[in-house]
Amino acid sequence: MDTADLYRRFAEREAHGHSARYEELAVRVAADEKLIALIEQLPEPKRQPNLLLAAVRHLDGPLRDPEEFTAWVVASWDRVRTTMLGRRTQTNEAGRCATLLPLLAALPQPLALIEVGASAGLCLYPDRYRYRYDDGAAFGPADSPVTLTCRTSGPVPLPERLPEVVWRAGIDLNPLDVRDADDMRWLESLVWPEQTDRADRLRNAVRIARAEPPHLVRGDLNETVRELVSQAPQGATPVVFHSAVLFYLPPEAREAFTETMRGLPARWISNEATSVLPSVASRLPRPAPQDRAVFALALDEQPLAFTGPHGQSLEWF
Ligand SMILES: C[S@@+](CC[C@H](N)C(=O)[O-])C[C@H]1O[C@@H](n2cnc3c(N)ncnc32)[C@H](O)[C@@H]1O
Repeated sequence: MDTADLYRRFAEREAHGHSARYEELAVRVAADEKLIALIEQLPEPKRQPNLLLAAVRHLDGPLRDPEEFTAWVVASWDRVRTTMLGRRTQTNEAGRCATLLPLLAALPQPLALIEVGASAGLCLYPDRYRYRYDDGAAFGPADSPVTLTCRTSGPVPLPERLPEVVWRAGIDLNPLDVRDADDMRWLESLVWPEQTDRADRLRNAVRIARAEPPHLVRGDLNETVRELVSQAPQGATPVVFHSAVLFYLPPEAREAFTETMRGLPARWISNEATSVLPSVASRLPRPAPQDRAVFALALDEQPLAFTGPHGQSLEWF
């Protein structure tokens, strides 16, 4: 796609209604031929609006005035370019645990969790967060600094207990380290400016993970998942799960992963954009809503719900 169009579409379809600031900035970038020419010198996957905007935030560039923003990016291009080439969009959203929890709690306990595409591993702590579904009472560890809220519809099997997690591990092409201040600043830069609740949740989830940093393996999920499942302790149910990951893989790699998962002695929870896994997409009981972005939550390829992409909603089938 034409790069100016990419930024215009981002403004209209992604930022609109969620971040007035990013909408304005992306429209301005699309109109700036000099900046578009610079962005086009980057490899295609590195031209994403989200990556540019996060890089500028990471470098403390000006975000208020669109003219000032584009002038600053052009003048600071070497630094912006280095950050965009060296970093990835790997937003880690602990809020997604609220949509995974009913499935995790219903499996035979205890669990050995293996997250593929884990980023910093913040979704590996579903037993350390508090939860509030709709107007119900919050439950979970009383001293947890994170309470995840989630709107529900349909017959959600709301959990009566938290899962018992005895082992947790993750895989990522580029694992982020919760103990590394610059990595965590990058994760914060990926949260959009108006989303202050998400930024607070992120900081508090990082505090939880820092108390017991996750075991994260660097590698491609297709090459590493088998080995990690084989390391899960005896007596625990191995659960491989992922959110917002397979979209980044070409279709052949998604197919290879599906085949691998079918042959592994593990349960498989996927929480991905609705068309990403063909076997899940073909079993959806109703078409995905067109007025909002949703993921399809599935257990062993059986779709069970549409979920809000940040874990904010759960629409059980
Ligand atoms: C958008 S983030 C989502 C992180 C986390 N699953 C969550 O829900 O918060 C996607 C992550 O998948 C990782 N990733 C993408 N392709 C991968 C692959 N082939 N193997 C392993 N990790 C991958 C990226 O590096 C990134 O950290």
